[in-house]
Amino acid sequence: MNKQVRKAVIAGNWKMNKTPAETTALINEMKPLVAGADCDVVLCVPYVDIAAAVEAAKGSNIKIGAENVHFKASGAYTGEVSAEMLTACGVEYVVIGHSERRQYFGETDQTVNLRTLAAVNAGLKAIVCVGETLEQRELGYTETLLKYQTKMALTNVSKEQLENIIIAYEPVWAIGTGVTATAEQANEGNGFVRAAIAEVYGKDVAETVTVQYGGSMNAANAEELVAQEHVDGGLIGGASLKANDFSVIVKAASK
Ligand code: PGA
Repeated sequence: MNKQVRKAVIAGNWKMNKTPAETTALINEMKPLVAGADCDVVLCVPYVDIAAAVEAAKGSNIKIGAENVHFKASGAYTGEVSAEMLTACGVEYVVIGHSERRQYFGETDQTVNLRTLAAVNAGLKAIVCVGETLEQRELGYTETLLKYQTKMALTNVSKEQLENIIIAYEPVWAIGTGVTATAEQANEGNGFVRAAIAEVYGKDVAETVTVQYGGSMNAANAEELVAQEHVDGGLIGGASLKANDFSVIVKAASK
C-alpha cells in the first residue's frame, strides 16, 4: 500500500459467530496484542454482540462495526436495524454488500448503494464489498464486474462522503475457501476498483480511498498481500476469530 496517502484498515468480519460472553473474552484477549498498531483496527460483529464489543473495546484502539444496516430510518421492516440505531450503540463501521448477503439474502447493487448512502449519511464508515465469482473470472469479466459493482455502490455518493467509504475487494471464490488470491491477483483487483473510482471522482481522489483485500487472508499471507501497491489492509473472516492470527495480520499492516 501507499502509506504516504492512505492508512491501512484491518477489519475482522465475525459473520455468524460468538455470543456476547465470547465476544468479551475474545476482545479482551486481542486488546494487548493489537495495542499501538499503525493501522486502523476494526471488528465487525453480529448485532447481538455489539453492546458487549463496545464495552470490551473501551479505552483500546479497537473500533466496532456491524455486519449490515438497513437503508430506511425506521418503520415496518421486521428484523432490520437502522444506521441511527447502530451509531447510538457506539458502532463506527458497517460492512455492506458482503457476497454472502448478495448470495443468500437477495442483496443487489441497488440495495448496496442505498445502504451505503444511509450509512455515510448517519456518520458511519462503510466497508463496501465487491467481488467476482469464479465463473465470472474464467469468462474474463473480472474488470468489468468490479468496475460496475464499485460504480453502482457509489451512485450519488459525494466526494466528501467518499472519505467515509472503504471498498473491500473480495473474490467470491476466495472467501472461506482457504484459496487466497495471489498477491498479483489481489493487487490487480484492487487496482480495478481504484480505477473505477478514478473514472468517477478523478485520480487524485481515488488515490486517497482505502481499498482492502478480503478472502482467506491469514497470518501467513497477510504481509505479502498488504505489501502490494493497491492493497490497503484487509477484511478478515476466519482469521479474525483467533486473537493471535488477527494480531499478526494487524502487525503486518502496521509495517
Ligand atoms: P475469510 O472471509 O477470511 O474467512 O475468507 C473473508 C470475508 O468474508 O470477509
